[in-house]
Amino acid sequence: MPKKLLFVCLGNICRSPAAENVMNFLLQQRGLEGEIICDSAGTAGYHIGAPPDRRMQKAAKARGISMVGSARQLQPMDLREHDLILAMDYSNYHDILSLDPQGKYHDKVKMMCSYCRRYNVKEVPDPYYGGEEGFNYVLDLLFDACEGLLEALTK
Ligand code: 4NP
Repeated sequence: MPKKLLFVCLGNICRSPAAENVMNFLLQQRGLEGEIICDSAGTAGYHIGAPPDRRMQKAAKARGISMVGSARQLQPMDLREHDLILAMDYSNYHDILSLDPQGKYHDKVKMMCSYCRRYNVKEVPDPYYGGEEGFNYVLDLLFDACEGLLEALTK
């Protein structure tokens, strides 16, 4: 049974689609497509239907990744339907848990940076209002976290 992962940020145009595309890139490199299924969503609905932010597309392209996807908002049923839900920051984490007041799926929700092995940080910061370097830093963190996550899921 393939594992279903859901990456979650605020707008679903910068961090979580980048996480989804980085993870799919690593899965493809390792011949593991189909074993782990990735999706992403935003806790907010501001950008529903929008493609990934151009600045994130550009930063990802420089690392050989053509980003795909369009923004959608996180729904309560996402907690039931995914095996693991990865929050980019604490605000996302609390917003995800607020969709599950009974705490039924609490154990499925993890902080993305808890899988980092090179970076000792707690959150993937929101790059939206910053410059280009913020997008590159997000990708550095996401490669680290996705590699750690992949190891945790496949060992
Ligand atoms: P994301 O970034 O949560 O990584 O997709 C943001 C995108 C949009 C906004 C904030 C963060 N916004 O305020 O519109």
